[in-house]
Amino acid sequence: MKSRSLLRSSASRRVLRPVADLIDKRIERQVRSTVARAQLENEELKRDIQLLRQHQFTFDLLVGPRARGISRVVVPGALDRLQAEVAKLGGGDREAAERNVAAAFRLLVALESLGVGRIAGGTMNICGKLGTIPLLDPPNDEILEIGTLYGMFSAGLIRMMERSGRSPSLTIVDPFAGVQLQPGTQQRNDPTGTPVDEHAVRTNLALAGQAGSAARIRQGFSEDPETRAAVSDRSYGVIIVDGDHSAEGVLADLQWAEEIAAPGAIVVLDDFGDPNWPGVKDAMDKHLAGETRFTYLGKAARSAFLRAS
Ligand SMILES: C[S@@+](CC[C@H](N)C(=O)[O-])C[C@H]1O[C@@H](n2cnc3c(N)ncnc32)[C@H](O)[C@@H]1O
Repeated sequence: MKSRSLLRSSASRRVLRPVADLIDKRIERQVRSTVARAQLENEELKRDIQLLRQHQFTFDLLVGPRARGISRVVVPGALDRLQAEVAKLGGGDREAAERNVAAAFRLLVALESLGVGRIAGGTMNICGKLGTIPLLDPPNDEILEIGTLYGMFSAGLIRMMERSGRSPSLTIVDPFAGVQLQPGTQQRNDPTGTPVDEHAVRTNLALAGQAGSAARIRQGFSEDPETRAAVSDRSYGVIIVDGDHSAEGVLADLQWAEEIAAPGAIVVLDDFGDPNWPGVKDAMDKHLAGETRFTYLGKAARSAFLRAS
């Protein structure tokens, strides 16, 4: 009690004033420098955020959904699942699966940047198809794509096969109706604004070099006898079924594939298990329940893979 009143005395105050002033000045200096540092950090953060936003904006122009209707941004969990599926289909080689899926992704972005139109479907599904087919080591290099839209997937497949040392030879069947034809859906212009025609397909195939330019293109419906007769002159090592997605359409394509698939051929059913296209799985289940040369190997994203005996 005594010492407290001593400190409060005017004499003590006088003596302690310079010390208190010194402490006050130090505190003030520290507060000022802390505030200045915080302001500087705040400015730096603002600049960093602005830069990140610009980068994000630029990156979105490359891979975002704008003007294409679908994003090419990769979600880590989905990529991991896809790599596991591709590795399983490819005999368990995870490293090869990761390499192929990454190469397929870069190819997808490159083709959609340089080509006209787009590749149909989700990013993981496209990378799964492109990455898996070479790993399944098809018995020959003849490839048939039923339903091509802009031919850009086939251009990518040519590149992926060539990366594995193969010499792909491509045949395409599509009605080229100016829009994407699909029974039971409304016909509308593509979000890319590019008409679905042979000219667009040729432009995209040219991006795949000599094999792309040499591709054989047959305009018509895959179920038409004239179309079939025109391209049934060989046994195919790979058949992509991606035309009419109704159960009847897919069944008809599978029946045709039985006749033109080389022994050991790979048949890919696109949009398998997609709730928007239940006919694909229904047709596959029905077809495999009957007499067939095909065995179900497995799936990657939304594509099923079959092998012919
Ligand atoms: C889903 S898109 C193909 C996408 C392409 N394979 C890709 O990966 O980008 C379906 C295509 O099949 C075509 N098509 C519809 N019915 C067909 C049929 N009966 N025969 C062949 N193609 C058909 C459509 O006009 C369209 O171009």
